[in-house]
Amino acid sequence: MDGKKRGQPIRGLEGVVAAETSLSFVDGDNGKLYYRGYDIDELAGRISFEEAVYLLWMGALPTAEQVEELRSELTADMRLPQQVYELIRHAPPNADPMVVLRTAISALDLFDPDTGRNTEAANLRKGKRLLAQVATIVASLHQIRSHGVVRSADQGLGFAGNFLYMFLGRLPDELERSVFDTLLVLHADHGLAASTFAARVTVSTLAGMHSAITAGLANLNGPLHGGANRKVIEMLEEIGGPERVEAYIDGMLASGHKIMGFGHRVYKTEDPRSRYLRRFAEELPRREGREHLLEVSHRIESLVFERKGIYPNVDFYSATVQEALGIPKEYFTCVFAVSRTAGWVAHVMEQFRDNRLIRPTSKYVGGFDKSFVPLGQRG
Ligand code: ACO
Repeated sequence: MDGKKRGQPIRGLEGVVAAETSLSFVDGDNGKLYYRGYDIDELAGRISFEEAVYLLWMGALPTAEQVEELRSELTADMRLPQQVYELIRHAPPNADPMVVLRTAISALDLFDPDTGRNTEAANLRKGKRLLAQVATIVASLHQIRSHGVVRSADQGLGFAGNFLYMFLGRLPDELERSVFDTLLVLHADHGLAASTFAARVTVSTLAGMHSAITAGLANLNGPLHGGANRKVIEMLEEIGGPERVEAYIDGMLASGHKIMGFGHRVYKTEDPRSRYLRRFAEELPRREGREHLLEVSHRIESLVFERKGIYPNVDFYSATVQEALGIPKEYFTCVFAVSRTAGWVAHVMEQFRDNRLIRPTSKYVGGFDKSFVPLGQRG
């Protein structure tokens, strides 16, 4: 009997090593993030999102020719089957964009020419299409909801520029484009984050790439993960002004609530990504009537550190950056997903290369040896 119940669960799998990866490393003690061995401080602001994608997928930084080829392929793939445009168009107007995105990505498996094929070459083709299509779905959904029309990608623009163009319905200026490009670079991969684990678990059964990305999207949307960036802006709006921060934060902490955009399972010091996003939030012009949000953010940051000794994570300043770019808050997590799809795709390919079914075990705490009572004799 004792043998059946053996083993203590590790709550939240904290510290459990569940995969081997050469994609990214989160050094939580020193506040460092590496993509394929490159410190994020070497890359941020110096490479485009396409270069980061190539690095994650192919293992090395691309030549100018290689990145141009990837850029052109991704732009060409920024379109959807008509049925998926229709699905987006017919989604209830108030549906959470992340739910529409998750549903649309699942639907794309019905139309993908490589569906059912899990070879390395097929996965790479699917990965390129999915990355481009995630961006297209998010941008098209916003355009359909706000203007009823969708915009096509332009071969003259890169990935970041095309996303902003298709999403906002106007060409971004250079500051907006470059900030958004780096935001995408910063979100592309992050070790075995919950959503990445979900994607790897999914393909460990030999289910396909679309299933894995759907699982990643479902997982990312939770407020303890990528859904936090949206909750951050709601908190800033609710607080309203810097003079109200202290009462709000103390009230939340006293009632046992978490402050959204703070804390991290791995980082015990500052998240390196938040340094860049804080700077971008300060550099971008504030939107009219929203000038106070940055001041409120700064005040929250210093107060939460004072009270709890914890730092902002990637979601905290990503909220004010996206807000300044004119992205409505209900799309914040979708933007995270646009970038993280690159990481999920890389992890899926890595998992397939050396797969073994991921199937942990549980500690059984139920009963034994109960006597069966037939239906007619119960109650
Ligand atoms: N606000 C207040 N206290 C916090 C916060 C927070 N945001 N985060 C952690 N703490 C405190 C906890 O209360 C706990 O304190 P205690 O030891 O005094 O009880 C301690 O720090 C450890 O917290 P856990 O919840 O055990 O940490 P865990 O590793 O399980 O959770 C998580 C990490 C989910 C990110 C957590 O910090 C959190 O809920 N943050 C808010 C949501 C958020 O911002 N999520 C985005 C994460 S980044 C990303 O996914 C991209």
